[in-house]
Order: sequence, then structure tokens, then C-alpha cells
Amino acid sequence: MKIWQKNIASTAEVDRFTVGADRELDLQLAKADVLGSLAHTRMLQTISLLTGEELEVVQRELKAIYREIEAGDFRIDDGAEDVHSQVEALLCERIGDTGKKIHSGRSRNDQVLVDLRIFLRREIYEIVGLTEQLFSSLSSLAEQYKNVLMPGYTHLQIAMPSSFGLWFSAYSESLADDLQMMLAAYRITNRNPLGSAAGYGSSFPLNRSLTTELLGFDSLCYSSVYAQMGRGKTERVLSQAISSIAATLGKFALDNCLYLSQNFSFISYPPELTTGSSIMPHKKNPDVWEIMRGKCNLLQALPNQITMLTTNLPSGYHRDLQLLKEVLFPAIQSLKGCLEMADYMLAHIRVREGILADKMYDYIFSVEVVNDLVLSGVPFREAYRKIGLDIENGNYNPSRAVHHTHEGSIGNLCISSINEQMQSVKTEFNFEKFLTAERELIC
Ligand code: ARG
Repeated sequence: MKIWQKNIASTAEVDRFTVGADRELDLQLAKADVLGSLAHTRMLQTISLLTGEELEVVQRELKAIYREIEAGDFRIDDGAEDVHSQVEALLCERIGDTGKKIHSGRSRNDQVLVDLRIFLRREIYEIVGLTEQLFSSLSSLAEQYKNVLMPGYTHLQIAMPSSFGLWFSAYSESLADDLQMMLAAYRITNRNPLGSAAGYGSSFPLNRSLTTELLGFDSLCYSSVYAQMGRGKTERVLSQAISSIAATLGKFALDNCLYLSQNFSFISYPPELTTGSSIMPHKKNPDVWEIMRGKCNLLQALPNQITMLTTNLPSGYHRDLQLLKEVLFPAIQSLKGCLEMADYMLAHIRVREGILADKMYDYIFSVEVVNDLVLSGVPFREAYRKIGLDIENGNYNPSRAVHHTHEGSIGNLCISSINEQMQSVKTEFNFEKFLTAERELIC
């Protein structure tokens, strides 16, 4: 029997269609659901909707359910519509009538909202951790290979000397910027929608500041209508941050595929990190980076999926919103997998030294040669023309001297400044606040 069922039950066809994959996805919200109820019931007691004894029983049982979830002993029964119904049903089964009181002043609409925000902020915490890990690997590689030159390209044509240090640090800096997007997503996510009920509040004197504090949110979503509109918005902003990291990773994956090609051969990985061909015995393919590129391309479609799903929905709750979980949850797992795998691969990357010694790169230092003339007093345009004609006429004397020393160049990668940038965005997250609040709620 559903929590909203009075006399007539919906048909099995309707149940199957409206629940779909949702029960499975809801399992991921189980801990968050219990945390939300732990805070909500403590608040209910302060406004006399639960007695002290009732609260004690409810809290004890909710904590027991939390431990069952952690132990993997929690499931959502076929008869229960969602995680919210399942937790309430378990409570009623175990503590009787007191369990029936916990939903006062609450709707599944704000319940799912608070669950999602509790769940998503932890996912952000994990994504940030994995991004930092990858960042620091890239940063150390940049330091390690700062003096190893490689070609830089424009139009995929050989352009100017670059270095592995520049290449690695470009991606570490990109990740630091991606975390700025994630920080914005975190700030929007870490606000409390609980108490907005079905979207229009409640006639009970709910203490929304109290649940905000108990759950370790930074503030609350003040307008109850906006709290409901946050469903879709939170996901959209987060998906844009996810997409931003995916764009960085996807480009890095593509560079890896290109540089691994024998026609480039700038980098290599041990054979056990490559894959083979069923017909060509010599092949060592970069499937990891190709799958990563594909996954990251799909992740960049996520904001669009979310926009398509939510566009033209008026304010207020709509069941369509349930489907947000179907696109967002697997995307989060996919991103985490990519971040982990990129880091795993980088632990084994080998870079080739001496690439630029090849004749193919004779002209890659042409701008240096022009600049040398400029330093000796020749105006740039004249120097450019002279060296250009020397090249055309076969009078060019290939130089291999590179002396870029300005900030962000081969000779001055600014790795420590990039590290500081990462450090400063990292401290802004202040995850400790919610981690502590959650620990206190369940202890
Ligand atoms: N599974 C639902 C969702 O994700 C839970 C909220 C249901 N609310 C409702 N009014 N039917 O949106």
C-alpha cells in the first residue's frame, strides 16, 4: 500500500511506468534521506509535534536504518514507491504509530529536494578530491619534465617549441579553473530546501534555520517556491561544472591519442595499459583514452539533456523532475571513473626526450631567430621578412636555442602559482562544515 493510497490503487502498469528505474536510483539517496529525517524530526520536537520520548525512539531507529544502509542491508521493497516511502514504512513497522508522525510539515517534494542536495554535495566533495589528485599528478609531471621540449602546433602544423612541462601544466591549470565552476555549483547546491514542503510551506511553525544548521547547509532556499525550482537548477549548474571538467579531460584524452600515434610518438604507456587487435598482431591501441574521450563527449551533452528535460516546466513540482536522476547519477559515476583512470594512466606515462633534434623541426625555432635579430636592433617586420626569405631560399641556419623566460613560458612555467590557484579554490569549498554536521546527526 502506497503512503498516499486511500481506497483505489493505481494499476501495475501505471506503477511500472512511473517508477521505472527510479527505485534503483533512489538507493543512492538512502543515507541522505535518513539524514534529512534525523534533522526534520529533531526540529519537529522543538515545535512540539513530537514529544521528547517519541523523538528518542525515532532517532534511535533512523540511526539503525542508517547503519543498515551502510552495511548494504537496505533495499526498497517492490511495494514501496521510492526511498522516502521505504524509510517511513520501516519506521512504522518497527516503532508503530510514532513512525506515522514524522511526515508532519513535510512533503516528498521537499524531502527529495533535501536528499538530492545532501547527496550531491557529497558527490561534489568526491569529484573535487579526485580532481585534486589528478591535478597534483599533472603538476608533478610538469615539474619533472619542464625541460623536455616537444613541438607546439597551430592548425596542427609544426609551430613553435613547447615542452612537456607546458603541456602537463596547461591541463592542471585548466582543472583548477574547472573547480571554480564546481565551487559555484557547490554554493548553489549547499542550501536547504527542507520546510518548503510541497512548494508552499506549511501552517506548522517550522524552524527552517534549525534544520539548515543541523544538516550543515550554508543557508536556506528562502522562497518555498524557489526551493522547488531548485530541482533542475541545481542539476543544471552542477552539470555545467561536470561538463567543464569533462571538456578538459576529453581534450587531454585526444592529445594522448594523437601523441601516442607512431607518426608522433611523443609519449608511450607500458603495453599492459594498451589493447590489441584481433587481426593485426602488432597493434597497441590507446583504447583507454578513446573511451575516455567518448565518455567526456557524452558528459558534455549532460547540460543539454537537463535543459531539454526541464525547459518549459512551470514553477511547482512535476513528476518529470524524477527523470533528472536518470541522467545525472550515471554521469557523476562516469566522471569519477574518468578522473580516476586518467590519474591511473599518468602514473605510467613515458615521455620521449630529444624530439626536436629531428630535421622535421628545423624551422620550429624560426621565431627565436627573428627575435634574436630584433634584439640586435632590426625592426621586427624586417627581421621577420629576412628570416622568411632565408627559409624560402635555403639560407636558413637551423638554430635550436630557446630562451623563453616570461611567465607561463617554457623557461618559467609558474607551476607554484598554478598550485596556489588550486589551493585557494580548494579552501573555499569548506566541506568540513557539512561533514561535521552529518557526523553529529548520526552519532
Ligand atoms: N520519486 C519522486 C521524484 O523523484 C519523489 C517525489 C514524489 N512526489 C510527488 N509529488 N509525487 O520526484
